[in-house]
Amino acid sequence: MLKVGFFSSQPYERPFFSDEHHPQLSIVHFEQRLSARTVTLCQGLDAVCVFVNDELDRTVLERLAVVGVRLVALRCAGFNNVDLDAARRLNIQVCRVPSYSPDAVAEHCVALMLTLSRKIHKAYNRVREDNFDLNGLLGFNLAGKTVGIVGFGQIGRSLAGILSGFGCRVLVTDPAPLPNQADIAQVEFDELLAHSDIISLHCPLTPDTHHLIDESAFSRMKDGVMLINTSRGALVDTRACIEALKRRKLGYLGLDVYEQEAGMFFEDRSDDIPLDDVFARLISFPNVVVTGHQGFFTREALSEIASTTLESLTAFEEGRSLDQHCQL
Ligand code: NAI
Repeated sequence: MLKVGFFSSQPYERPFFSDEHHPQLSIVHFEQRLSARTVTLCQGLDAVCVFVNDELDRTVLERLAVVGVRLVALRCAGFNNVDLDAARRLNIQVCRVPSYSPDAVAEHCVALMLTLSRKIHKAYNRVREDNFDLNGLLGFNLAGKTVGIVGFGQIGRSLAGILSGFGCRVLVTDPAPLPNQADIAQVEFDELLAHSDIISLHCPLTPDTHHLIDESAFSRMKDGVMLINTSRGALVDTRACIEALKRRKLGYLGLDVYEQEAGMFFEDRSDDIPLDDVFARLISFPNVVVTGHQGFFTREALSEIASTTLESLTAFEEGRSLDQHCQL
């Protein structure tokens, strides 16, 4: 029997992650994020199942190794929160869900784009107050616009397909060689910045991509550009965003992720005093829409995340090797 500690557990996940049909697994749910403060909860566990804001740095991994945890199963695609070198050294296996409905995230990007381009967030509030004035709601068409996609992996590709349907011109930048596609132009990062009306980020967060979008990147963009980030918060320097919004360089900003989201997103903080001044300033702009890391949050994606993760845990317990696409 594999005893699994399921950290950052939310009520909406539990029906998908039931161990009812997996007699080899015993899942214990913890609402807490896994971090150096909460790692004491791992006593007696064989594996931990974690999400995007759990912290698996060297210190946490060393403590996991001491209590006998042998597997870290990420129930997400990104793995920037795990020190993979330390895990390897400590003989802790790490797996993830490499693919689960990229369409879920791509469709959420389009939802952010259309909310901003047609000012749906403002219109929704106006109509609820019987205000049917159109002043200030003038939008723009997506058709004919140039959209730059940074990172042409699974989500980037799904987004390109949707945007081609909207009649957009799609530019992509990615260090990997890309398949020749008639409707997609692969360009250098600088060219993408210079020519895009909308820029959407879909590369992983690594030391190389940290603050990929900073003051210098903004200075190379078109005036009034729209930026969408559904990938990882730290791809964007938030303070530089605020300055670019103030100068109207950045005309629209749609975020599903935020640099300092750990400890804030996925929780109801509506009764708390807001303590993050940068975030408070960010959401004060009328042309900024932020969602709390919900790009992945569709029935289809959750069900795929659960089936892949439960299969990895079961394979590990049965001594089978993990799927090569899941193993890190
Ligand atoms: P993927 O691995 O299929 O694609 C990532 C692509 O980025 C690859 O083609 C890679 O070559 C490219 N890339 C790497 N460095 C780059 C750079 N410096 N510039 C341009 N491209 C670069 O990943 P996938 O599934 O498309 O996911 C992308 C990211 O989306 C993940 O890393 C994760 O952080 C985020 N994500 C967010 C979710 C949400 O709920 N908001 C859900 C799932 C993923």
